[in-house]
Amino acid sequence: MAEIFEEMKVEFIDQDVSVQVVADTIRNDGEVPERYVRPDIKAEPVIIDAEGYNLPIIDMSRLLNSELYEEEIAKLGSACEDWGFFQLVNHGVDEGLLEQIKADITEFFRLPLEEKLAIAIHPNGVQGFGHHFVFSKEQKLDWVDLLFLATRPVEERSLEFWPTKPSTFRDKLDKYSLKLANVSTQLLKFMANNLGVDQDALLGTFDGQPQSVRINYYPPCREADKVLGLSPHTDGIGMTFLLHVNDVQGLQIKKDGKWFSVESIPGALVVNIGDVLEILTNGKYKSIEHRAVINPIKERITIAAFHSANLFCTIGPLQDLLKAGEARYKAIDGVEFTKGYFAAKLEGRRYLESLKLGV
Ligand code: OGA
Ligand code: NI
Repeated sequence: MAEIFEEMKVEFIDQDVSVQVVADTIRNDGEVPERYVRPDIKAEPVIIDAEGYNLPIIDMSRLLNSELYEEEIAKLGSACEDWGFFQLVNHGVDEGLLEQIKADITEFFRLPLEEKLAIAIHPNGVQGFGHHFVFSKEQKLDWVDLLFLATRPVEERSLEFWPTKPSTFRDKLDKYSLKLANVSTQLLKFMANNLGVDQDALLGTFDGQPQSVRINYYPPCREADKVLGLSPHTDGIGMTFLLHVNDVQGLQIKKDGKWFSVESIPGALVVNIGDVLEILTNGKYKSIEHRAVINPIKERITIAAFHSANLFCTIGPLQDLLKAGEARYKAIDGVEFTKGYFAAKLEGRRYLESLKLGV
C-alpha cells in the first residue's frame, strides 16, 4: 500500500497535529477554525429513527444453523441488495475480547499528545496516528483524529506504527484482527450461496485476507452541526466491520436520497458492503454512501476494519453473474483500482460511478 502512495506522489498536507487538541482549545467559547466549518451539511434532511428504516439485523448463529440458514441467507442477500448495510449479531467474537480492545483503544486516545505522536503518520505515508487524505490547504478537514494500521496479511504489518501503550494493545488488535478476518470469510461464503456464484471465485478475490483498521476518535464540538466527523464516502474495499468503542452514535447512511442515523446495537458489528463487492456482484450488492457526525458534548470512538481485495487480482463482475446479464462495471487491476480510489479523494460515490459501463 505504502508503495502505491509513493508511486502516485500523493502529498498529504497536514495542518493541525490533533483535532482533539483543537477541540480542547475551543471547548468553552472558541470558534471552530474555518478549515473545519462545513457550509454544505445542512442542505440535506436527516431522518432519525424513522419507522421502517431500521438497519436489517443478521444473526450469524442462524447462518450457521442447518435448519435456519436458508432463511437467514435470504435475509442477508436482501440486506446487501437493499441497504448495503446490516448489523451482525451473535458474530462469535467473544465479549471479553471486545471489552479489552475497546478499553485499550480508549486508553490510547487518553495518552498525552507526545505519546501518540511517537507513532505519527509520516509525510506522504498512510499508516499511523494523525490526519489522512489531506490533499490541499483549501480542503475542508474532518473533525477526527485517527490511527490507521495495516493488519493482514501479518507480514505486511509495520509494527513501528502500532502503539506500545497500553501494553496489551498489540496483542488485542492481533486477536481482534484474526477473528474479524474469519468472520468476513464466513460471510463471503454465505454471500456466494445467496448470489449463486462459485465460492472459490468470490473468496479468491480476497486471497490472503488483506485487512486494515482505521480507529476513529471524534472529539466533541460545541458547534457540532458546523463540522463533520467523516465526509460522505463509500469504502473502497470488499466489506467493512464497524465496532462502536463507546456508546455514542454518529454514523449516518444515505438511503433513497436522505441521510438516516444508525443506532448501533451494543456488541453488534455494523457491516457494510464496499465498492469492490458492488463491482464483483455486478451491482447487485450496494456500496452505500455514509458519513459520521459529531456529538456536542461527548467524544465518540469507533474502529472500522476493512477487508480488501488482493492487490494482484482483477476486480470485475464475477463470471457466474455475467451469464444472466451484461457487465455493468469495467474490470480493473487491483493496484489500479486502489490508486484510482485514493486519487478520487473519497468524494462520495464518484469513483465507483466512473467505473460503470454504458450508463
Ligand atoms: C470509516 C467509517 C464510520 C464511523 O471509518 O470508513 O465510515 O461511524 N466510519 O466511524
Ligand atoms: Ni466508511
